[in-house]
Amino acid sequence: MSQVLFAVPGRADVLAGRVVLVVGAHGALGAAAALACADAGAQLVLLGRRVPRLNRLHDSLAARGAAPVLYPLDLEGASADDYADMAARIGDAFGHLDGVLHCAAHFPGLTPLEHTDPAEFARALHVNLTARWWLTQACLPLLRQAPDGAVVFAVDEHARAARAYWGGYGIAQAGLAAMVAMLDAELGGSRVRVSGLCPPPLRTPLRARAHVEAEDAVAREPEDSARDCVTLLSAAGAAHRGQLWRPVHDHAVPSATHP
Ligand SMILES: NC(=O)c1ccc[n+]([C@@H]2O[C@H](COP(=O)([O-])OP(=O)(O)OC[C@H]3O[C@@H](n4cnc5c(N)ncnc54)[C@H](OP(=O)(O)O)[C@@H]3O)[C@@H](O)[C@H]2O)c1
Repeated sequence: MSQVLFAVPGRADVLAGRVVLVVGAHGALGAAAALACADAGAQLVLLGRRVPRLNRLHDSLAARGAAPVLYPLDLEGASADDYADMAARIGDAFGHLDGVLHCAAHFPGLTPLEHTDPAEFARALHVNLTARWWLTQACLPLLRQAPDGAVVFAVDEHARAARAYWGGYGIAQAGLAAMVAMLDAELGGSRVRVSGLCPPPLRTPLRARAHVEAEDAVAREPEDSARDCVTLLSAAGAAHRGQLWRPVHDHAVPSATHP
């Protein structure tokens, strides 16, 4: 069966023929991005830890004509072998992988480092940084089979600034920024590119753990950022290779003023 391997920027089907793995697919940004990617023509593999929520997302996508594949997995307990299995299954099903979008995140709430439970600190670093890398590492051979492989990390710029109380989640964001730069330097001009997406504050369950939602005037709905995910996963994302991209939407507050 022939596939469209090169998408045309600006067209609605910019992800046509591309297989995209969305990690954290039933989260707020993950689900919005999955819908946007499906509308852009991607074949989706949806990874999340809660099967009922994956099923609900599947049904929403099916109603729009998409046929996503579900991959239930908890990043906290998954081993490097589990990611190798996952990559092998995607390889068996599709032969290659064009994009990985990392939207899973573990953030239990603002806590002083001094009072953070040691296991909780380790969990935050593992889910937000180590697991993202283990999964990406397992997928690199498949991404190399694609003509324009893309790895996209959602990065929380606000938490990365290492303000007080963001704990292991905040430290992991700094690690993700370093990982984007390091991986980009190592991948060089290869067919696989890496970038970070730094969305503005989004009205999601994660942000609600740090801000009182009713008073959170700067938070935006995740849909604009979902379109930014599509941009980075599409051919147009090559312009942001190796970068942390901070899109500014007309109605978004400039990042310097985010509280
Ligand atoms: N919200 C913001 O203001 C903001 C700003 C900048 C960047 N970001 C980034 O955007 C991304 C998405 O965040 P969001 O705001 O959409 O948060 P969200 O709605 O809380 O989504 C996070 C998702 O990660 C999943 N997850 C957590 N631990 C997991 C594990 N061990 N295994 C598998 N999945 C796990 C959650 O599953 P459950 O539903 O089961 O908990 C949830 O589906 C994150 O990378 C975040 O850092 C967010």
